Amino acid sequence: MPGAIYAEGLVKTFGDVRALDGVDLDVPEGTVLGLLGPNGAGKTTTVRVLTTLLQPDSGSAVVAGIDVLKHPNEVRRSIGLSGQFAAVDEYLTGRENLQMVGQLYQLSARDAKARALQLLERFNLAEAADRPAKTYSGGMRRRLDLAAALVVSPPVMFMDEPTTGLDPRNRQQLWEVIQELVGGGTTLLLTTQYLEEADHLADDICVVDHGKVIARGTADQLKARTGGERVEVVVHEPEQITAAREVLASYGKGEVAVAEHTRKLTVPVTGGAKLLAEVIRDLDTRGVEIDDIGLRRPTLDDVFISLTGHVAEAADEGNGEGDGADRAPRKETVK
Ligand SMILES: Nc1ncnc2c1ncn2[C@@H]1O[C@H](COP(=O)(O)OP(=O)(O)OP(=O)(O)O)[C@@H](O)[C@H]1O
Ligand SMILES: [Mg+2]
Repeated sequence: MPGAIYAEGLVKTFGDVRALDGVDLDVPEGTVLGLLGPNGAGKTTTVRVLTTLLQPDSGSAVVAGIDVLKHPNEVRRSIGLSGQFAAVDEYLTGRENLQMVGQLYQLSARDAKARALQLLERFNLAEAADRPAKTYSGGMRRRLDLAAALVVSPPVMFMDEPTTGLDPRNRQQLWEVIQELVGGGTTLLLTTQYLEEADHLADDICVVDHGKVIARGTADQLKARTGGERVEVVVHEPEQITAAREVLASYGKGEVAVAEHTRKLTVPVTGGAKLLAEVIRDLDTRGVEIDDIGLRRPTLDDVFISLTGHVAEAADEGNGEGDGADRAPRKETVK
């Protein structure tokens, strides 16, 4: 049975740009899918298609059991969306914005008011509640937009880069809100450029690049694909590389890689910290002086770089309250 979010063969072109080049997704109910990819990979386009805002050229999608192309209005009633394109009314206050959303979803005036208050507090907006949204900073707007998406808890939620431009404290709080939401059974598709965020929140991760899903799996599965743990040694003298190589080869589960100019040797291993201690002893016995040694496990960053050839660019790292949400357009990677 297809999951709460299901897509098959989504293609969308803009002129010569194939923004989506055959995207397949299947997100089981009550789980979080992290859509990870560099700028221009097709993340927002995927979200726009799944939330009925954009017609694909071909392919099909089913959200909350409803065909997205055949019954867009019904889909809209079953989903929540918070996006790179904020849906905030500039001239209303934060409180009015949230109450209005509640009333659109047919909460009573009293419930809408109570829910608005709760969300304003939750998102650290209580003090600014009665100011027009146009006076909010970028980070505040982003939080208001997220709060608006959470006024009612729809069965399926989409969040496009929910924490870009939030400072670390607000990001942490949003993670908690998201975990609560998912704990209550909501299915969530979230796009992000923060690999740590995908690692923390997502049950499954799809890495997209150039409109294609190029890898999928849990964070651990993806990390395992990039190879397991390895020992890295930096020797003090170039002359000691040969001796160090012999020592590492005797412990390694694969080839010893040597970077001559940095005097760094790397070898895949199993055995963790205990093995590291033995390696250090052996190097010492052989008279190899080391500047640095460490056991390194792959991170999602390694996965991302090895899959896409890009370093993940997280815009606005940590400057939340400033100009986060209305960041300048970022460069696209169209090749
Ligand atoms: N309305 C549009 N008209 C023309 N090209 C578009 C349009 N929307 C998206 N594109 C192009 O489609 C590709 C995918 O864009 P998309 O916005 O989905 O990327 P993204 O993964 O969300 O990137 P980002 O991380 O920068 O938000 C890009 O090359 C983009 O320039
Ligand atoms: Mg985007």
